[in-house]
Amino acid sequence: MTDLLEGMRRTHHCCELSADDMDKEVVLMGWVQRRRDHGGVIFIDLRDREGITQVVFNPEVESQVHAKAHILRSEFVIAARGKVSARPDGMINKNLKTGEIEVMVSELKILNQAETPAFLIEDRIDVSETLRLKHRHLDLRRPGIQANIITRHKASQAIRSFLNDNEFLEIETPFLTKSTPEGARDYLVPSRVNHGMFYALPQSPQLFKQLLMVAGFDKYYQIVKCFRDEDLRADRQPEFTQIDMEMSFVGEEEIMAVSEGMIAKLFSKILGKTLKTPFNRLKYSDAIDRYGLDKPDMRFGLELTEVSDIVEKSDFKVFASVVKKGGIVKALNAKGCMDMSRKDIDDMTDFVAIYKAKGLAWIKVREDKWQSPIAKFFSDEEKDALKERIGMEPGDLVFFVADKPSITNEALGYLRNKIAENLNLINGDEFNFVWITEFPMFEYSDTDKRWQALHHPFTAPFEEDYDLLEKDPGNVRSRAYDLVLNGTEIGGGSIRIHDYELQQRVFEALGLEKNDFEAKFGFLLEALKSGAPPHGGIAFGFDRLTMLLTGQASIRDVIAFPKTQKASCILTDAPSEAGKPQLEELSLRISKLPPK
Ligand code: AMO
Ligand code: AMP
Repeated sequence: MTDLLEGMRRTHHCCELSADDMDKEVVLMGWVQRRRDHGGVIFIDLRDREGITQVVFNPEVESQVHAKAHILRSEFVIAARGKVSARPDGMINKNLKTGEIEVMVSELKILNQAETPAFLIEDRIDVSETLRLKHRHLDLRRPGIQANIITRHKASQAIRSFLNDNEFLEIETPFLTKSTPEGARDYLVPSRVNHGMFYALPQSPQLFKQLLMVAGFDKYYQIVKCFRDEDLRADRQPEFTQIDMEMSFVGEEEIMAVSEGMIAKLFSKILGKTLKTPFNRLKYSDAIDRYGLDKPDMRFGLELTEVSDIVEKSDFKVFASVVKKGGIVKALNAKGCMDMSRKDIDDMTDFVAIYKAKGLAWIKVREDKWQSPIAKFFSDEEKDALKERIGMEPGDLVFFVADKPSITNEALGYLRNKIAENLNLINGDEFNFVWITEFPMFEYSDTDKRWQALHHPFTAPFEEDYDLLEKDPGNVRSRAYDLVLNGTEIGGGSIRIHDYELQQRVFEALGLEKNDFEAKFGFLLEALKSGAPPHGGIAFGFDRLTMLLTGQASIRDVIAFPKTQKASCILTDAPSEAGKPQLEELSLRISKLPPK
C-alpha cells in the first residue's frame, strides 16, 4: 500500500506557529489560499480551519521544490515540510496570528489538485446565495462561516455540559413516529412494510418527552432535529434543531431558572458576557398592547398607543367604522421623522400591507399645523386628545392602522421594528431577553371555524380558568412561556396537563371528537392514567440562538447544509422524484394534481 502522506506527518495547524517556534522543522497541511510569485520566490498562504501560515519556496534554497511549487493553484491541497523563520523586517503582518514568521519549504507534496473554484474562498464575496449553496463544500471553507459552525459546536458543548451538571439525562426519541401537532404540516414517510401507511417526522419530541417523565426519568434533554413543513423565512427551516428539555415535579419558576442558568452559561462561554438574571417578564396581553407582537424587541421604546376611543366618533369613516365593527385603531409615533419623504411613507404603506393592513394613515406634526391626509376629519377636541395620548410634538410623524386587533397589532408591531432600524435606535451589542407569560390557551381560526391551541394541546390552563374551558375558551390563560431575545422567539414551553380528565376537556374544547383524540393521542391518555407526575419543559431553537450569538441575520449561516426558501437542497438536488421500483415497493402511484 502506498501512503500519500508517507514520511510526512502534520506537526502543527496553520494558526499555531509564532516567533517562539523559530528554527523548528515543521510539517503543515492545508489548502492554497493564495500564491504570489515575487521575483522567483513563491509565497503561498496555506489555509486550514484554524487560520493561515505563509510558506515560502526559494529557488536558491531548494531549486527542485521551488520548481514543483510553480504548478500550485488556489485550493490545491498540499503538505509542506520546512523550517520556521523570521519574516524580514517590513514583511511582518500584524493582522495575522502567524504574521511574524514564515516556513521555508524543503519538501512539498501535492496531495490533490483542484479546479478553479466557483468563487473565491473569502468572507467578502459578492455571489448569490444560490451559488454558495450549490457549492456548499466551498462556501463552508470561508473563514466566517467556518467560525459560525465552530461556534455552534462550542455552544452545543456548553449546553450539554450545563445540563449534564444539572442532572439532566440525554435520551433519544424516534424520528419515524406519529404526528405531533406544533402548528405546522407534517413531513410524511411512507411505510414499505405497511402499505398505504405513513410515519410523520416529529415536529418536536413533545409527547415522547412527556412519556419519559411518566416513566420516571425526571429530567430529560436532547439536542434534536425537528421537522416542520411550513413557509420558510430567515429564521425558519424545514428541519431545524431544538434544545429540548423536560422536568418533573416543577413549576414555571424552576424551568425558567434552569433556562436562564443555561443561557447565561452559554453567553459567558461563547462571548465572555455576563448576563443579568433573572430576565424580565411581560404578560402576553401587555406585549401585544405595547409592542403589537408576542416577540417584542425591547432594545428600544417606540410603544404603540391605542386611540380607538378618541376616533370612534370622528368624521374619518375608515376609523369610525372599524371601531364600530369591533376593530381597533392604534398609533405609532416615529419621533422626529417628520421629514420622511412621500416615497418612504408609500414604502411603509406597502410594508404594512404584507401583514394585511388595508392602509397606513399618517400625520406630520409641523410647528404650526398638522400635515396629513386625514387631519381634516378630526375636531379640535379629537386633535387635542390624540396629541396628548400619543405625545405628539413638532417634528414627529405618527402612523395609524385601523383593523381587527390581530392585523392592527401585527402590522404596527413589525413597522415598529422597521422604523427603529431606520432610525438607528438599536444597539447592536445589546442582548435583551424577555419572558412572555400568560398566553391565551386558544385562538380562534377564522378559516377552520374552531378554536386552536396557541401553543400545543398538552399545555396546562391556569387553574382559575378551568371553568372557562367550556364556557369561554377565548379567555382561558395557559401556563406557557416564550423566551424572546432581541425580537426573536428563541424558546417556548409550558407546564403540561398531567391529568387525564383535564386533557380530555382540552381536546374537547378544541372540537376534537372522543374517537378522534383517542385515535391520535390514545397512548398519551393511557400514560396520564398510569401515574403521571406534574411536569413541564421548554425547547429552544438552537439555530436561532446560534444565529444571534454569532450576529448573523439568517439561520442558514449557522447550519452546515441548509435548505433554500423553497425547502430544497440544491447541493444534492433534494427533493427528487422516486424511481418506479421504489414506488412499487411502497405501493404508491404518483398522480399529480393540477396546481391550485
Ligand atoms: P415551539 O414550537 O415553540 O415549541 O418550538 C421551540 C423553538 O423552536 C424554534 N423553532 C424553529 N427554528 C427554526 N425553524 C423553524 N421552523 C422553527 N420552528 C420553531 C423556535 C421556537 O421557540 N414542543 C414545544 C416545546 C415545549 O413545549 O417544550 C415546541 O416545539 O425558537
Ligand atoms: P382614503 O380615504 O382611502 O384615501 O385613505 C386616507 C388615508 O387613510 C390614506 O393614507 C390611507 O392609507 C389611510 N387608510 C385607509 N385605510 C386605513 C386603515 N384601515 N388603517 C389605517 N389607515 C388607513
